[in-house]
Amino acid sequence: MTQRAVVKGVGHYLPQRIVENSEFEETLDTTDEWITSRSGIKRRHFAAEGETTSDMAIYAARAALYDAGLDADDIDAIILATSTADLTFPSAATMVQTGLSMTGGFAYDVQAVCAGFIYALSTANAQIISGQAKRVLVIGAETFSRLMDWKDRSTCVLFGDGAGALVLEVTDAEGTSNDRGILSVDLNSDGSYRDILYVDGGVSTGKTGYLRMEGKEVFRHAVEKLSETAETAMERAGIQAGDIDWVVPHQANIRIINSTARKMGVPMSKVVTTVQDHGNTSAASIPLALSVAKQNGQIKENDLIVTEAIGGGLAWGALVIRW
Ligand code: UT7
Repeated sequence: MTQRAVVKGVGHYLPQRIVENSEFEETLDTTDEWITSRSGIKRRHFAAEGETTSDMAIYAARAALYDAGLDADDIDAIILATSTADLTFPSAATMVQTGLSMTGGFAYDVQAVCAGFIYALSTANAQIISGQAKRVLVIGAETFSRLMDWKDRSTCVLFGDGAGALVLEVTDAEGTSNDRGILSVDLNSDGSYRDILYVDGGVSTGKTGYLRMEGKEVFRHAVEKLSETAETAMERAGIQAGDIDWVVPHQANIRIINSTARKMGVPMSKVVTTVQDHGNTSAASIPLALSVAKQNGQIKENDLIVTEAIGGGLAWGALVIRW
């Protein structure tokens, strides 16, 4: 007998304002055709003025709690993956804790940029199976629009804002790949790649800064590292490509998603894609994709899911989850 962290609920929030590719044609030397063909992105949501990462996280958290049939006071911990916390401190997670009127438990942020939700799920899983927490709210929420240099056409057309959340709960299990819950984890980082994807601001600079990216280099690493980490996680879970019901990848670029699926030997009919509607929402992209896929009837109980992501650091990783 063992214990697993099982998904009890999922939810998401997208800000109201939708920006189509064509809107960028008015201010930049770019086209809908370029953005669509190079990235697969057609539109993205941008937070309203004054709307923060923790505001969006609270909406997503409420939706996930509702889906789980739970109240905030049923939760022992909140782990929020973000690189765009409202303030340097306190953590956005503690703001969510207050926003949900939670009277106990603990809350903290995890920062692993676009791989943040994978890291946060891994941390939540460890706390659940070690007995530190019974139920954990795991959130990915970002306002990357606030990190954009609106004159840099190679980055500002790619990112969007949003939030998604999962509720995980401890459950007794057999210890086999037929169990529901998180079945395996693989995490990696390599700080020597810091200069290919970073923000040129922070407390050492006195300004917030803008996202800077060598797109081609990041693309090359993504294609190589995502299939590797997915395969490591699959091996640890004792599953094969043919067993997978859904791949839920980080939503950065449809060409990266296609190549990774091909390398993994999984057809695109089993890959959840939201990049066309959300753009790259960094740590929010995977929980957003999971929530949308559950809502539209793609993901069902007992489905076997592989999820993977890579981002600044570089930091990357994958998980196998039976829903
Ligand atoms: O989530 C974190 C991880 N991030 C990623 O996974 C992103 C990874 N990288 C990518 O998705 C792709 O590299 C991009 C979508 C960023 C770029 O696609 P690419 O096929 O690698 O294009 P490129 O950077 O090589 O640019 C090709 C050309 C360049 O012009 P020249 O030098 O060939 O004349 C760019 O200046 O496209 C130009 N370009 C644009 N043209 C129109 C760059 N941005 C734009 C634009 N509109 N918005």
